[in-house]
Amino acid sequence: MDSPEHRYYRQTLNPYLSPAAVKRWIPVIDEVVRACLDEKITTGRIDFVDDLANIVPAVLTLGMLGIPLAKWAIYNEPVHASVYTPPDSPDRGRVADLQRAMGADLYAAVAQARVDPRPGLVNAVVHADIDGENPPDVEVLGMLSLLIGGGFDTTTALTAHSLEWLSHNPDQRELLSRDRDTLLDSATEEFLRFFTPAPGDGRTFSADCEYAGNQFQEGERLWLSWAMANRDPSLFDDPHSIDLERKGNRHFSFGLGIHRCIGSNVARTVFKRMLVAVLDRMPDFHCDPSEAVHYETIGIIQGMRNLPRPSPPAPAWRRSRRDARPSSEGVRRTGLAEPITAQTDRSQ
Ligand code: HEM
Repeated sequence: MDSPEHRYYRQTLNPYLSPAAVKRWIPVIDEVVRACLDEKITTGRIDFVDDLANIVPAVLTLGMLGIPLAKWAIYNEPVHASVYTPPDSPDRGRVADLQRAMGADLYAAVAQARVDPRPGLVNAVVHADIDGENPPDVEVLGMLSLLIGGGFDTTTALTAHSLEWLSHNPDQRELLSRDRDTLLDSATEEFLRFFTPAPGDGRTFSADCEYAGNQFQEGERLWLSWAMANRDPSLFDDPHSIDLERKGNRHFSFGLGIHRCIGSNVARTVFKRMLVAVLDRMPDFHCDPSEAVHYETIGIIQGMRNLPRPSPPAPAWRRSRRDARPSSEGVRRTGLAEPITAQTDRSQ
């Protein structure tokens, strides 16, 4: 999608995804993280992908969309599985069924937003002002699918890889936990750079042109590798090493230009809340390398299917004392899924 249409969509989504808008969700994120860890912490066996990093981004994204949180599983498994399942896998049929079920639910949410709007991104996109018109269903569904695809597996991949690396580098894990006030931001950017969860994106040339001595013709496709740019030695010292203190880390993991990730504030916030909760509650976690499963191939996401922490719980692991769970009712009551401008207006 190109401007000016693209600009109208960005203007519609920004009030829901700005730093201030995302900050309001932190208590909800923390509750979901807490519930995920509580579920497993006393058993000692937790799969950081299945039991944490898959769940939190999915539940939060549904909350932001204005879709009941309890439906997260309808959305999460097809998004995750469609990324890691190769086209020739016998599992493709099952994944396609799951995708159809997700599409049907999303379509129902769109239809409902037309007659009985509830705050959130579904409502925002359905009623978006695209140069004086509301978008047709096909575009609404495309935009919502982009938010769901962008919102789920990317943050999952970043979290899984980072936890795996920290598990194998306990001195760095302890350093990060101890000095998190100064290191958490730079470590997050470094994990984003090094693991590049979305390794690249395609572009189509809209006109014949020459770039860097190469001729391109209208209609030709080009793959932009964010992952390669992130390891460019002319931009990053010692690019193949992780340096939690790296300064001036202007990585390309959220892309560049007008299509730069609109969910970067969400991604950073959710990642950090999951990471610090694990550091606090499972300070000595260790993942068994032989049980970690990376995606068979890296297509659109450089992710992991499993990252188990298999041995019995250590004394240092802490169960929280609260039993409350985040609910759609709580999100509705607090007005979290509304755009930040609407909230500001109401308080004036
Ligand atoms: C670590 C997590 C994430 C990574 C690495 C990531 C990466 C990216 C990249 C590289 C792009 C640029 C695509 C292009 O140029 O063609 C992009 C775009 C986008 N991302 Fe993310 N993303 C992440 C999280 C999220 C989240 C949490 C959301 C939603 C809440 C999201 C929604 C989007 C959307 C809607 C676009 C399209 C923007 C446009 O075309 O203007 N992303 N993302």
